Formats: sequence, structure tokens, C-alpha cells
Amino acid sequence: MGKEFRISKLFAYEVLDSRGNPTLAVECYTEDGTVGSAMVPSGASTGSKEAVELRDGGTRFMGKGVRKAVSNVNEILAEAIVGMDVREQIAIDKRLLFTDGTDNKSRIGANAILGVSLAVSRAAANALGISLFRYLGGSNANLLPTPLMNVINGGVHADNSLDIQEFMIVPVGFSCFSDALRAGVEVYHQIKSILKSKGYSSAVGDEGGFAPSLNTNREALDILSEAIERSGYKLGSNFALALDVAASELYYEDEGAKFYSLPGEKREKLSSEQMVEYFVDLVENYPIVSIEDPMSEYDWEGWELITKELGSRVQLVGDDLFVTNSKIVREGIRRKVANAVLIKLNQVGTLSETLQTVETARLSGYRCIVSHRSGETEDSFIADLAVALGVGQIKTGAPARSDRNAKYNRLLKIENVLGENAVYLGRAVF
Ligand code: PGA
Ligand code: ZN
Repeated sequence: MGKEFRISKLFAYEVLDSRGNPTLAVECYTEDGTVGSAMVPSGASTGSKEAVELRDGGTRFMGKGVRKAVSNVNEILAEAIVGMDVREQIAIDKRLLFTDGTDNKSRIGANAILGVSLAVSRAAANALGISLFRYLGGSNANLLPTPLMNVINGGVHADNSLDIQEFMIVPVGFSCFSDALRAGVEVYHQIKSILKSKGYSSAVGDEGGFAPSLNTNREALDILSEAIERSGYKLGSNFALALDVAASELYYEDEGAKFYSLPGEKREKLSSEQMVEYFVDLVENYPIVSIEDPMSEYDWEGWELITKELGSRVQLVGDDLFVTNSKIVREGIRRKVANAVLIKLNQVGTLSETLQTVETARLSGYRCIVSHRSGETEDSFIADLAVALGVGQIKTGAPARSDRNAKYNRLLKIENVLGENAVYLGRAVF
């Protein structure tokens, strides 16, 4: 092994994420001075089975400090992997898991472990002198993802009354990524004008989408439709629509009774069947091609029902349901729930486990969407990951705020680097 590949040092420190909460930055050095770095994202509507993010508690940063995770990198994980070859990602990730020793990464912290795992892969790409997407994806990686752009924010990502967390526009009818993104930006600005003309706020939520206090979910879908058409595009052929309901946040248990509540819609105590009817009605009235977490992670029967009802027409994406965990995805495949998996590195905590989940999903014909978290940084790792895996879809928010645009801008760079070899499907992958 050459000196450029042998890990000599890990160095972590606290930085801030897009919500102003602390997170980790990690640098991995090799013996010849090559460096790979990474920053760790953080969710708000988290699934209950996600790997554990280690926070310090106490009063510093309202309890959200990550000094303990930082010291776990510098003192424990460094000792575990110094001397290893940065190209041995699987062996390194296994060593990280072994060092933690728990099922959910709660001792060392999934945030500490992920920072190291990603910094190692960047160091390997740098030592080999190739781009991250090329290192992770090989010589054939050339598919730019279709962005699912979250332009109206609700749920726990915004202080408004919208029950659905994300209303997304999906530029499908375009021949290259940059054209698709440009059209998305035009629609985004058009939404702002429409909101202003109707007297709504154009302040934004955590993922850069607008967060107006609209009266109903349908009003949000109508505004998206109007903005697409006013921008000169055709609803359905140039742009499709997508939702992330994050329904685990809308699911309640009261003295044994389980139900959904849509307070924004003034509809309380909906059964799983009524929720499914609600979505069938939306799908019949709008060109919705993808719905994420339409049912709660605690309602697998509801998931079975919606998959039977809509699974052949609409992409049904498990986020909180699957938490990027290959075991849970396998169970989902067995029970025929959902038909797609949201891929979030920090839900599972290492790069190689993430890749294993993608493989599990794809072997059974489940689609994958590489995704950001609502708390993000300027790190654009997921842009390279989406191209490397060729999954054809990315979810990284509105085309506003630098934490989101870092990913879009990185995809623009990759498209330019690939030149005429870049491919954009120009249609829904689903
Ligand atoms: P989160 O939201 O990062 O707050 O979990 C994103 C999502 O639900 O897809
Ligand atoms: Zn989600």
C-alpha cells in the first residue's frame, strides 16, 4: 500500500448546519498529506428506527452540541482505523461498527461514524486523483438524477398549517439536467409571485421551499399547477408533482385506537382506509407521480393497502418506514409495501451499509431516491452519490439557500465534466 492510501490521522470539529445547530466536520488524512473531508446532515421528521445521532445534552447549544461525538472521532475511531487503506471502505466501515458495538450506533454516535465513513471515501477518491462520483460509481456513471424539488414546505419543516410536509415539482420533460433545473427555478420564482399576489407570505421553510399558511393541501397543489403553466410549461408533460406526507407525524394512538389527523384539512380521526381514499382522490385530480410516507411507519397494514391501491400507478416511497435499513427494506419487499426507498446516509450511518440497502432495493425492482436531510450543510456528497449509483432521482429541496444549491451546483459541475456523455432521462424514472 502506498503512503497516499494509508490513514494517518482523523480530525473532527464542530460546525453549524443550515438550521443553526451544531454538527460534525471530519477530515481524514493519509500519510502523504492527502485529505478527504465531510460534514454530517441532520433530520427533523426522523424515523424511530434511525441510527442514533449523539448529542451532548445540557445547556450548551440547547443540548444539541456534538463535542462528545467529536471526541469519539478524534480519540476512539482514529485509533481504530489509523493504518488502514482508505480504499478498503467495507473493511473500514465494519471496523467502525465493531468499535461502536451497538445495533443502533448509540455508543459512538451515527453522526461521528458517518462523518468518518464519508471522509474516508473522499480521501480515497482524492488519493486516486478522481472525482468522487467516478470513484463511487466507476467508469459507466453518467446518469444525472431527476430532481424532486420541494418548493412548498409544511409539516414540521414550517410554522404553517399545511399537514403535508413537502410539495414537490418534478421537471420530467427536459433533455438535460441543467434545462430541467432552470425550469424548476423559473417555476420556483413564479410561485413566489403568485403567493405575493394572493397576499400570502413568501418566507421559506427548512428546505428553501415557501411556507405560506395556505388553507388546504389542494390549494398548495393548485398554486404549483398555476406556477408551472404561467411559466410556459405543461403540467403533466414538462412537470409532474410529488408529495412527502411524512405521515408518521400525523398518526396518533388514543386508548388503543389508531388514526390519522389532518388538522389543516379540518379532518380528524381518519382510518387507514380513509387516508388511502384521500390520496386516491389527489392522484386522480393532479399529475402526482410519487408519494413518500403516505402512511405512518407504525401502520404497515395501511402501507399494504395503499400499495395495493396505488402501487402500480404511483411511486410510493418509504422514508421513515425503511430508514435506509436493508433489513427493513427486505421486510417491506416481503410484505409488498411501497415500491421505492428514500436513501439517506445518516439514517443508517455508514457508506457501505447505504450501498447495501440500495442493492437490496434494486434487486427486487424497488426504485431509490438519494436524499438530503432538512438540516444540511454545504457538503455536496449526495450529488456525487446520486450520479455514482445511477438511481435517476434526487431529493435536495428548493433551488434556494446555499445548503440546497450546493448539491444542485455540484450536479451542474458533474454534467459539465461529463459533457456530451451526460445522460438525463427527461422523463419520470417511475
Ligand atoms: P427530515 O425530512 O430530514 O427532517 O427527516 C426529510 C424527509 O422527510 O424526507
Ligand atoms: Zn420524508
